[in-house]
Amino acid sequence: MRIDIISIFPDYFAPLQLSLVGKAMSGGLLDVHVHDLRDWTHDRHRTVDDTPYGGGAGMVMKPEPWGEALDAILTESGPARTTVVVPTPSGMPFNQSLAEELSRLDDLVFVCGRYEGIDHRVIDWAEQIADVREISLGDYVLNGGEVAVLAMIEAIVRLIPGVIGNPDSLVEESHSSNSGGLLEYPVYTKPPTWRGLDVPEVLLSGHHGQVAAWRAAQSLELTRRRRPDLIGRAEQVEAARPDPANGSR
Ligand code: 6GU
Repeated sequence: MRIDIISIFPDYFAPLQLSLVGKAMSGGLLDVHVHDLRDWTHDRHRTVDDTPYGGGAGMVMKPEPWGEALDAILTESGPARTTVVVPTPSGMPFNQSLAEELSRLDDLVFVCGRYEGIDHRVIDWAEQIADVREISLGDYVLNGGEVAVLAMIEAIVRLIPGVIGNPDSLVEESHSSNSGGLLEYPVYTKPPTWRGLDVPEVLLSGHHGQVAAWRAAQSLELTRRRRPDLIGRAEQVEAARPDPANGSR
């Protein structure tokens, strides 16, 4: 996968060199190009913002540098219709199924807005030549798209085949389509007793059916308490599956 990122703070993306994403880059599974938007300005102050039409507080990102940046980057990525991700609190919610969808693409371009946002004509123009996705991480406001893009890239890249050493780790995690959209059950390791607290007995039993049933029940209970909004769909998945513990459903 090739990822292009356009930002006025390219240094934000240095941490991509670390950890799993960094390994994917050095291993050739991922090719990341970070661009400074100011490279496409032409004035002495490298201006990227201006006052909003219609008034109001704050500044808006000027369209011209964005237009030139996207002209350069979208032609580099070849004839296919590239997906352009625009992080914004007014976007569609980012979730695991969107991460899975984006992880299957060959090219992604991330466009990091700052201030009060980018002149909307940039989005309208880009939609003529690219698949533009305005995406939000959640119902809160960040100062710019950079941190959101780091989070999205991590969620996407770890799903690319070969990036995670043991692909089984992806199977049962929270929100994965395989977990039925439930939260993940709690996990434990040695020692069996720590500061007076015991590991749940069933996990030491070696009884795979009972372990699976305990984990499924924990997942369901945790999701019911913390994320009741996720339950409806997950219970349909659960009801359609034979119960390994008692076989009575
Ligand atoms: Cl994607 N961008 C910004 N600036 N703020 C956000 C966000 C994105 N998601 C939640 N808040």
